[in-house]
Amino acid sequence: MMRQVCSAPGKIILFGEHFVVYNSRAILCAIDKRVEVTAQRRRNNTISIKSNMLSASIRPSTPHMVVDKRTRPFYYIAQSLGMADVEINIRSSLPSGAGLGSSSACCVATAGAVLPLSGMNRSILDVSIEAERTIQPSSSGADCAVCTHGGLIEYAIGTPPRQLDTPIPSDLKLIVANSGVNHNTGEMVARVRHVYKKYPKKFTILSKKADSLTSLAMDSINDIPKLGYLAASNQLLLEKIGISNNTLRQMIRIADRHSYGSKITGSGGGGCIVAITDDTNAHSTLMALSDAGYDSFVARITRTGAST
Ligand code: PMV
Repeated sequence: MMRQVCSAPGKIILFGEHFVVYNSRAILCAIDKRVEVTAQRRRNNTISIKSNMLSASIRPSTPHMVVDKRTRPFYYIAQSLGMADVEINIRSSLPSGAGLGSSSACCVATAGAVLPLSGMNRSILDVSIEAERTIQPSSSGADCAVCTHGGLIEYAIGTPPRQLDTPIPSDLKLIVANSGVNHNTGEMVARVRHVYKKYPKKFTILSKKADSLTSLAMDSINDIPKLGYLAASNQLLLEKIGISNNTLRQMIRIADRHSYGSKITGSGGGGCIVAITDDTNAHSTLMALSDAGYDSFVARITRTGAST
């Protein structure tokens, strides 16, 4: 085989970001914005990585840790799968640095495209988590799990992702608004680690609360107002671990005037918020956030994970 294409969805973390790194459970869903990766064999003893933002050609003998962080995970996938002659082309409709899973979806789609060419018998999820950890060593793997499997999943480190088996209510509308402030997952994870080290007992209590919210939310998928209430409760925990700021708080105030509840999604510091709505308040929530100047859209949950 000479050429393989794989696409993977972006994601929203509905419950449990950050606490998932400390073994709490999280709920994530895949959304209808995707990345597509084409991997093609070349006979030039080079691993090439191209996207609309970058272009790099790297000798396959280069140790992955000295490769630029923007290309490192993709280079690592090719190199660790023994693919010395490959060109990887990435096309993404996801904003990067916004907490919508751009980096994980790219890792998953790259693993999905390169694996069949390599002939190796490894799972897309394992390879993509390994790749992501070359830039985020403490990554929980939650983002790669949902980008691989699609749908709505419960995730905890060390256990297989659990797909929600009941139908997702058709009138559940997730409104995503982008603060326009780029965030850096590594920095935010480090900030939270600092809080954890300084106040271990308090952090453990917050982590247990986050885990209970996840559990309640998993049982309340059909009760949209309750999901909103639980999201707002999750936001209070995220405020306590220091990942919020005035811009995000302002966005949440606007969203909460119309929606059932909203929260930061992803590592925070910037990036996006998600508001829980249904047919009765989706439009007003979307308009309020857009009118305030935030790029906003209705995210649809997709069942299609990594797909070749
Ligand atoms: O990169 P983001 O914004 O999707 O955040 C990653 C999610 C965290 O829970 C903050 C980290 C992790 O590894 O799960």
